[in-house]
Amino acid sequence: MEQSGSNEFAQEIWRKDRDHFVHPWTHFDSFKKEGSLVMAEAGGVHIWDIDGKKYLDGIGGLWCMNVGYGREEIVEAMADQARKMVYANPFVDVTNIPAAELAAKLAEIAPGSLNHTMFSCGGSTANDTAFRLIGYYWHCRNQPQRVHYIARKESYHGSTYVAQSLTGKTADRQPEFTYINDTIHHISSPNPYRRPDGMSVEDFTDSLIQEFEDKIKELGTDKVAAFFAEPIMGAGGVIVAPEGYLQCMHEVCTKYGILFVADEVVTAFGRLGAWFSAKDVFGVQPDIITCAKGLTSGYQPLGATIFSKEIYDTISEEGHDRWFTNGFTYSGHPVACAAALKNIEIMEREDLFAHVRDVGPYFMERLSTLKDLPTVGEVRGMHLMVCIENIANKETKELLPDEVNIGKRIANAAEERGLIIRPVGHLNIMSPPLTITRAQCDEVVDILRESMLSVIEDLKSEGIELI
Ligand SMILES: Cc1ncc(COP(=O)(O)O)c(C=O)c1O
Repeated sequence: MEQSGSNEFAQEIWRKDRDHFVHPWTHFDSFKKEGSLVMAEAGGVHIWDIDGKKYLDGIGGLWCMNVGYGREEIVEAMADQARKMVYANPFVDVTNIPAAELAAKLAEIAPGSLNHTMFSCGGSTANDTAFRLIGYYWHCRNQPQRVHYIARKESYHGSTYVAQSLTGKTADRQPEFTYINDTIHHISSPNPYRRPDGMSVEDFTDSLIQEFEDKIKELGTDKVAAFFAEPIMGAGGVIVAPEGYLQCMHEVCTKYGILFVADEVVTAFGRLGAWFSAKDVFGVQPDIITCAKGLTSGYQPLGATIFSKEIYDTISEEGHDRWFTNGFTYSGHPVACAAALKNIEIMEREDLFAHVRDVGPYFMERLSTLKDLPTVGEVRGMHLMVCIENIANKETKELLPDEVNIGKRIANAAEERGLIIRPVGHLNIMSPPLTITRAQCDEVVDILRESMLSVIEDLKSEGIELI
C-alpha cells in the first residue's frame, strides 16, 4: 500500500522509510504493508505530516516534548554552542562549559543529597549506568554479594540489554530476545484497577509490600542491591499506585539497606508539576534518579543518572586507586547540555509547573467525562500523564479480544480527526506538551469522544458485544 493522497516526494520518503528504517518496536507484518506516517513540521503543541495535515500532539513526541515544539531560544542555544564548540571529549579529566553547568544545576534541583551526575544518551543508558554504578558501589562497600535487582511487572525501563531485563512489561519481553533472568526479578504491579476481586485497596497495598519483603527474604536480605521503580509507571499503562505504596516500598528498602532508584525518565521535568516527582509528589527520597526526555524536552538526546553524595563519597574514597570505567563518547555532549540548560531556564522563567498543576487536574476532570462510554473502563493518571483503559465489560473489566486491537483503532480514529494519542495494547496513553491550554484539553476530549463513538459504532456493526 502506498501512502494515499500525497505528492511524489512524500511517496518517496514513505518508501525509503519502509524499505530501510527499522523502527523501535516494529511489527513486521503490518509495517511492510502500511509503512509509517511521515511527520514533517512542528510548532507549540502541533505537528504537521508531510502532506500538511495538522495534528494536536497528545503524546508530546514520546513523553518528551515538555516545553513545546519550535522554541527558538533552545534552537539558538544549540546553534551557538555548535558554532563555538560542537563536541568535547568528556573522558577522564576534560570537560566543557555546558556539561559542568548542567551537572551543577541538576545538583541544585535534585532532592536531598543527590549532587553528582553521569550523563548518557537517553533513558535506557541512564538506567544501564545506574545498574553499573550500583554494582560498583556495593563492591566499594565490601558487599559484592548484593547482586540481585528487583523491579516490577508492567514497568518500562528501556531497550538496552540491562534496561529491557529490568522492564517488566510482558508484551515487550519477546521470546526471540534474551534477558538477564537470574539476578533481575519482578514483583507485582501496584495497579489498583486490576487488584484481585473483592480485595480492598488497603489490603492490596499491604499485599504488595509483603510480596516485596518476601522476595527480599527469598533472595537473601543481604543480597539485594537495588529496587528500580518509576514513581508512576508510564508505558505499562500510567499506573498510579495506591496512596502510601511508594513510601512503604522505600521503608522496606531502608530496612534492608537496599538502594532505591527512581526511574524518572517520564515523571521528571514538570510532567507531574515538579522537577522530580519521587520526593516532591510522593514524599520518597531516592538514592539515584535516572532521567532523560524532559531534560532537554526532546530537543537533543540526553540522559542523566543523578546520585547521592553518600554513593559518590563511597566510590571515590581516596587511597583505593579506583577507576570508574563507565561512560560514553557523548556523555555530557555540549550541544545537548546547552539545550537542557535553556530548557530548564524556560521552565523556571515561565513557571511552567504551576501551569501543569492548574491544567493537569482540569485535563483529568475533562477526560473523566468519557467514562459514560461503554468501552471506557478507567481514566487514570496524574497531571499530564494519563491513560484510558478500554474494556468490553464494565462490570467484570473483561477486555475485548486482542484481534479487535481497540487501542490502535481508537488511535487511528483520533489521528483521522487530527489528534495523536498512543495505543499500547488495549490502552490509550496521553502526555501532551506541558504548555497545553485548557481550550486544547477540551479539543482533545472532544476529538476522543467522537473517535470512540465511531469505533463503538463499528464494533456494534461487527457484532462485538459491549456491556
Ligand atoms: C520510564 C522510562 N525509563 C526509560 C526509558 C527509556 O528511555 P530511552 O528510550 O530514552 O532510552 C523510557 C522510555 O520511554 C521510560 O519511559
